[in-house]
Amino acid sequence: MKKKTAWIVIGVIIAIIVIGNVGWFVQNQHRQQSTNSNRSGMMSGSHMGASGRSMMGGNSSGRARRNSDETVPLKTANTAPKKLAVPPILKPTKTKGDAVYYTLNAKKATTTFKPGVKTQTMGYNGSYLGPTIRVKRGQTVHTKVVNQLNQRTSLHWHGALIPGKADGGPLEPIAAGKTKQTTFKVDQQAATLWYHPHAMGTTASQVYHGLAGFMLVDDQNSQKLKLPKKYGVDDFPVVVQDRTFSRSGQFSYQSDYNADGTEGNTLLVNGTLNPYINVKTNQVRLRLLNGSNARTYHFTLNHGATVRQIATDGGFLNHPVKMSRIDLAPGQRADVVVNTAGVSAKTVALRTNGQRVLQLRLNQKRTGRTTLPKTLNHLTPTGRLNQFGLKHQTIRFSGMGRMVRINDRVYNPNRIDLTAKPHSNQIWTLTNNDSMMGGMDHPFHIHGAQFRILSINGKRPSAAQSGLMDVVNLKPDQKVRVLMSFHDRGIFVYHCHNLEHEENGMMGQVKVE
Ligand code: C2O
Ligand code: CU
Repeated sequence: MKKKTAWIVIGVIIAIIVIGNVGWFVQNQHRQQSTNSNRSGMMSGSHMGASGRSMMGGNSSGRARRNSDETVPLKTANTAPKKLAVPPILKPTKTKGDAVYYTLNAKKATTTFKPGVKTQTMGYNGSYLGPTIRVKRGQTVHTKVVNQLNQRTSLHWHGALIPGKADGGPLEPIAAGKTKQTTFKVDQQAATLWYHPHAMGTTASQVYHGLAGFMLVDDQNSQKLKLPKKYGVDDFPVVVQDRTFSRSGQFSYQSDYNADGTEGNTLLVNGTLNPYINVKTNQVRLRLLNGSNARTYHFTLNHGATVRQIATDGGFLNHPVKMSRIDLAPGQRADVVVNTAGVSAKTVALRTNGQRVLQLRLNQKRTGRTTLPKTLNHLTPTGRLNQFGLKHQTIRFSGMGRMVRINDRVYNPNRIDLTAKPHSNQIWTLTNNDSMMGGMDHPFHIHGAQFRILSINGKRPSAAQSGLMDVVNLKPDQKVRVLMSFHDRGIFVYHCHNLEHEENGMMGQVKVE
């Protein structure tokens, strides 16, 4: 009897080993295949045009690991360098004490990016992008958004800590031809924020056609700090986007569409192709914004110019951080100060993904400060943030293409996924569970809240990752723990800021009440 049992046990163990190995083998085959299909996908994406791309676009099997640098490679603009366009600062239609009134008209237009070619675009008040809205902490902002498009839109204040009703997310659409007014109080520290449409089904294509703009928040600290702050002189908003121009010079969102993130092969900076700025000061501040639908950037500077990051999405870092490279996922911002004092070259280039983003033409006699303040902010060091007794949530990103999910669910505007109390903190564990089947980056973003990174795969964040954030990129297999700070009441979405994933339903809702 005992012998028999022993044999059964041994048999079961052998069976487990055999099945396990077969599983491992099958999985390996699977990986092999996906690397191959990925490679051929890249080839077709770059050489065969639309048909190849739609193959990629239709890829919802969730197998290929996707690397945006290779799917749609960037190429050098072949147009002459042009002075960087700087979005005008929007004048209020009215001011009354602390109250300011702004009007934004979303409309269709044509823009000349390439000499002699008119491209169909969308813009706020102008033909491409929108004006910069500059507000101060404590002000009450009244906005009027006029939808002059023939489709629904909304206007979301990305990074703003405002009530849900003013947030402009998918729950506050503006029908074609309609106007919407909202009011909010600026109740956060100085930061580089932005605005863009956010209505279900039209977000990605409207952003691609040009709907986006900056909102800069100032406060006493930012006004006092000795930093470059002359807008358009030594302090530039810099939104980087990738677009493909069709043979007739148009953006054709439909034919370039990719369910895993639509990318273009040409960089536009503030809507300028091949831009330059004239630099007359030793230090130049660039407020970098990745305004692309899906591409991640890795910014560097050449010719010995040094770059220090001074702010993340939600405000100043405690101290300037010397950087050799700045990675920005879609939606993320980084304020950096470039120091050219020791540079003997005539030009310096901001570069990414093998291409020049922006040329800095250095004036022979550059003047002004060469140092930065040592202390910029007084954020609690991430290691000392109080985590005691906080509610925990796990947010799991998975899938690709049309199969993207958060915690295995597709966005449903009628469903509340999580709850939180106003002005409370929670610990969120963000994971990207794609690694078994390939997978890709998912830039996590939340409305109406800011967070601090506690750990990335168990490790402390770097100094530059320790600031206030509203976007963090989740690489395949990564686990990021954050301390989430909620602010005002309302229903807020959190989602993947790869806009095609967002449109495919990679979004959830938290009710703050
Ligand atoms: Cu920048 Cu929910 O968006
Ligand atoms: Cu995603």
